[in-house]
Amino acid sequence: QIRAVVRGVGHYLPERIVENAEFEKILDTSDDWIRSRSGIERRHFAAEGEMTSDLAANAARAALENAGLTPDDVDAIIVATSTADLTFPSAATMVQAKLGMTGGFAFDVQAVCAGFVFALANANALILSGQAQRVLVIGAETFSRILDMEDRGTCVLFGDGAGALLLEAQDGAGTTDDRGILATDLNSDGRHKDILYVDGGVSTGSTGVLKMHGKEVFRHAVEKLADTAHRSLEKVGLTGEDVDWIVPHQANLRIIKGTAHRMKVPMERVILTVQDHGNTSAASIPLALSVGQAEGRLKPGNLVVTEAIGGGLAWGSVVLRW
Ligand code: ACO
Repeated sequence: QIRAVVRGVGHYLPERIVENAEFEKILDTSDDWIRSRSGIERRHFAAEGEMTSDLAANAARAALENAGLTPDDVDAIIVATSTADLTFPSAATMVQAKLGMTGGFAFDVQAVCAGFVFALANANALILSGQAQRVLVIGAETFSRILDMEDRGTCVLFGDGAGALLLEAQDGAGTTDDRGILATDLNSDGRHKDILYVDGGVSTGSTGVLKMHGKEVFRHAVEKLADTAHRSLEKVGLTGEDVDWIVPHQANLRIIKGTAHRMKVPMERVILTVQDHGNTSAASIPLALSVGQAEGRLKPGNLVVTEAIGGGLAWGSVVLRW
């Protein structure tokens, strides 16, 4: 039975690190407030002229190197992003060109912070249907460009970065012990658009800035994330007890703790990067997967659950054997 197996992983973070203390200079805020409410200590911001497709291409190169493959080995590129360089073409086709690829196909997926989970589910479907053998799945964002730097309730929470997985079709026995994506679960509910959004866009004629009702988002997040993770696990007859690692969307330490608690998974089995990256939206899960592997925590054969929620609301989860 064909599975979409992780063959390589990599990430890229812009050089500039912004510590919480930098915000103390421009806003009525404190390192202590930011740490205690969100778990965030620092984040990276892209340099002027450094675009989402640059971050994405660098992460893709790192994943290809990790896989021992070249761009010519790739059939498809999916970039999950809400901050593409231009309205069109897609960031994915820009990455394709930056990697020197002239074959295959590339497109973007936009499900905000849940974007990487949606992209993974799409890549999995492409592989299972035989449309592609190897897919680069990238999450990349430059959220620093849509932040209102005078809104202390939002601007301290986000960062820039990119992470990438190289998924490959591999044949196996089809058990839950085999490596690869085992189950996916996707959801959205457009009634909640007003609790997290950007108040501009192409059709409204302005770029806009990020707006959020933090408490409302928080309330939905813990409940919906644990639900979707359980649904994915149930599809393949597994429970929280089988999970080696939760690799959550890194929005906020308190959301991550609340979700792990509801899933009955101890925090020792959760990969955390929010303290160093802030919320990098669609990039946060592949960044955390890459850091988790680089630190030697994520090992082949581990059962991993990723889960994310973001604007829409859109949310979902993926269960995979690393
Ligand atoms: N520094 C100091 N004070 C602040 C700051 C700041 N940066 N931001 C807000 N405050 C103040 C508020 O003005 C308020 O003051 P007031 O009581 O005088 O009005 C006080 O702190 C409490 O504000 P709340 O919004 O009630 O604080 P809360 O404890 O809810 O924490 C937070 C805010 C961190 C945004 C929280 O609601 C949260 O984590 N929400 C989830 C949002 C999230 O993670 N979104 C990410 C995008 S979606 C996703 O990826 C899942």
